[in-house]
Amino acid sequence: MSDQSQKSLVESRRLAYLQAMHIDVWRPRNTDAHSEAPAAQEGAADRPLQDWQSLRAAVAGCTRCELHKSRTQTVFGVGNEAADWMIIGEAPGMEEDRRGEPFVGRAGKLLDQMLRAVGLDRSKVFIANVLKCRPPNNRDPSAGEAAACRPYLDRQIELVQPRLILAVGRIAAQRLLETDAPVGRMRGQAHYYGERRIPLVVTYHPAYLLRSPLQKRKSWQDLCLAQNLIRDSSP
Ligand code: URA
Repeated sequence: MSDQSQKSLVESRRLAYLQAMHIDVWRPRNTDAHSEAPAAQEGAADRPLQDWQSLRAAVAGCTRCELHKSRTQTVFGVGNEAADWMIIGEAPGMEEDRRGEPFVGRAGKLLDQMLRAVGLDRSKVFIANVLKCRPPNNRDPSAGEAAACRPYLDRQIELVQPRLILAVGRIAAQRLLETDAPVGRMRGQAHYYGERRIPLVVTYHPAYLLRSPLQKRKSWQDLCLAQNLIRDSSP
């Protein structure tokens, strides 16, 4: 296959993917939509631009994995769309699936307390999950489910542009850092996420802390580390 045909194939796959995600593709104004000219297929003007409204709509109607069949509703995320802190958890549980908001069950109440301990609340941070739909019986998300949902989370991170990501729990940390290391090894240090190298701190999931309250001291240390990283990166 020639270089040009290979490029066209990659581009048509990319466009099919964007279409399935309901992502609008911008093209330069002077480009004929049917043109095969490379200039129409490359460059900044081709980048997907999805605003909050269309992203919310895409998530609400998502059927990219089997979880759409068992959910009551999707759980998009909540909070300040221009927050400095972005909190990323695993997936909605039963209460979240019922109410459509992340971290509203018992673990969520503890998360609220953890945030309050560093002077934050839900109106100041943005809270999202790796998965927007509840896995039945709260089982771990499969790799396929996480991959199907990933573009939504990536776009949320792009839109919020947080100064810090707090990954709560093993699943969020492993997916974001693309590792299978245990939380105990990932927490307590600064990581950096993506091309923008957003400081990322890993801490224990509040559901785990409810079962193992002695670990709360370590999660407090993680929150202090997160606070320091934000302070150090002050403009
Ligand atoms: N656990 C999570 O990871 N996310 C939620 O939204 C609720 C519980």
